[in-house]
Amino acid sequence: MYRPGDDLLTDLTSDDERTRRRALLRKESFDKAADDYDQWRGGYPDDVVEAIVACSRIGPESRVLEIACGTGQLSVPLAALGMDLVAVELGHHLAALARRNLSRFPKASVKRSSFESWPLPLEPFDAVVVANAFHWLDPELRFAKSAQALRLGGCLTVGHAHHVRGGTAGFVEEAQRFYIKWGLSDDPFFQPPTPAGAPIMYPEFDGRPEFGSVERRRFEIPRHHTAQSYVGWLRTDSMVATLDEESREGFLSDIGQLITTRYDGVVSRNFLYEVITARKVD
Ligand SMILES: C[S@@+](CC[C@H](N)C(=O)[O-])C[C@H]1O[C@@H](n2cnc3c(N)ncnc32)[C@H](O)[C@@H]1O
Repeated sequence: MYRPGDDLLTDLTSDDERTRRRALLRKESFDKAADDYDQWRGGYPDDVVEAIVACSRIGPESRVLEIACGTGQLSVPLAALGMDLVAVELGHHLAALARRNLSRFPKASVKRSSFESWPLPLEPFDAVVVANAFHWLDPELRFAKSAQALRLGGCLTVGHAHHVRGGTAGFVEEAQRFYIKWGLSDDPFFQPPTPAGAPIMYPEFDGRPEFGSVERRRFEIPRHHTAQSYVGWLRTDSMVATLDEESREGFLSDIGQLITTRYDGVVSRNFLYEVITARKVD
């Protein structure tokens, strides 16, 4: 089920305790599924990594802070360029796997902490990057503390993947009945947005006093899956991961069978990757 990332923020700060607790469970679910995350999440397409590097104006000599690195989906290609990379990750298991995945890069390190409580080092960074995780950070601090971490002129770059219309014809529509059956949706007619209709993420970038020269780039890129890799990838979805065990396994089994029996074991889903960069001005 598609939900723009900012819905999560609304939930995390909701007045309703059940909504808040559920959002918190979702935030913590990535660490519980750390092995699946590492195996099935996959990295970012080259075009997206190149845009993040180019927009952030970084290279081998740069000092970069990555917030919420997961198991290193973006960190590994950044570290491979030779830059000095510090990654901060909330989850213990995720941080341990990220450390392992980055172990061949002596200039990369992983700190296990929430970004909000991590003491910033004195030496400023040339860029702060965040991939698919900005919506999990404290809404006020994520801008103010990122700005504090940066040198003047340094860049804050945020990547976000939207699920959009396209991909294997009929698959999303057919799969929807299992989202309803297992309590993940109540909308039988759900459709993701068209690529052109995907919401602008983090419009507040434009009004932040610490940042200027906001640039947004979008890339429409399909991802291809076997039944096994799709089910593995779904295990890392925080909505799926926080279902009770019986519902989760029932849902995943239904989706796996759907792909095997109706789509010859392969499907693709269409994504719109948004890369947003702003430069520190103050
Ligand atoms: C959807 S995952 C994205 C991981 C990785 N960046 C990627 O692109 O696949 C969200 C990540 O944010 C981390 N996270 C959530 N809140 C955080 C916080 N306050 N500080 C640091 N990491 C956080 C989670 O543990 C998880 O690794």
